[in-house]
Amino acid sequence: MRKPLVMGNWKLNGSIDMAKNLVAGLRNELSTDVACDIAIAPPVVYLDFVKHQLGGSNIILGAQDVGINLSGAYTGEVSVDMLKEVGVTHIIIGHSERRTYHKESDEFIAKKFGVIKEAGLVPVLCIGETEAENEAGQTQAVCARQIDAVINALGVQAFNHAVIAYEPVWAIGTGKSATPAQAQAVHKFIRDHIAQKDAKVAEQVIIQYGGSVNDKNAAELFTQPDIDGALVGGASLKADAFAVIVKAAEKAKAKK
Ligand code: 13P
Repeated sequence: MRKPLVMGNWKLNGSIDMAKNLVAGLRNELSTDVACDIAIAPPVVYLDFVKHQLGGSNIILGAQDVGINLSGAYTGEVSVDMLKEVGVTHIIIGHSERRTYHKESDEFIAKKFGVIKEAGLVPVLCIGETEAENEAGQTQAVCARQIDAVINALGVQAFNHAVIAYEPVWAIGTGKSATPAQAQAVHKFIRDHIAQKDAKVAEQVIIQYGGSVNDKNAAELFTQPDIDGALVGGASLKADAFAVIVKAAEKAKAKK
């Protein structure tokens, strides 16, 4: 039985004050005994601060990205060991905003995946098609290509204890979420695609949905058999909305 993961991606938002209030709000709203995993990924500069605010809570600390090198002359980069040292366990990679604005390729993202696995941490690999690709009927081909880059570089076993976040680019920050049926169809395709290589790996891999998830639409998305939680942007900046999403994931898990 897969344990859903609800993860908040704060993106380029926040401040010390905001982080303090948001974490306090989450600790207040969420019991320490939850049936799903909860993670938050603040901007890298606040990770250490947030780790201390989280002390004693079961909320997992995540990062939004990582460099591929471990040390050396790479100005501006942050290594996986540095993230690990401040308590990060889950690292988002391949977000469409990095693929688009930083021109990150599938192969480069696969390298990040490998570095994270090597460090014993959990990659959260974002995949998903653009609106144009969706309209051209290329959703499956794009998702398969983005997953195959990792399989080709590292083998399918790399997806053991890993997370995939299906985030259709057209749904991110637009208020236009995929419907539960639309998302389920793609999630099933992703799981089946991995199962062609290894059924056991496919069965345990967490596949989150991301893209305009909020406190209103989360519950229905989570009823779908292959949706294992969510990667949440905007709604993760509000403690009450994020807590509603976490509780919806718990409720759905109890029924699955
Ligand atoms: P929104 O929830 O704001 O659409 O963002 C989704 C996302 O990109 C999470 O990584």
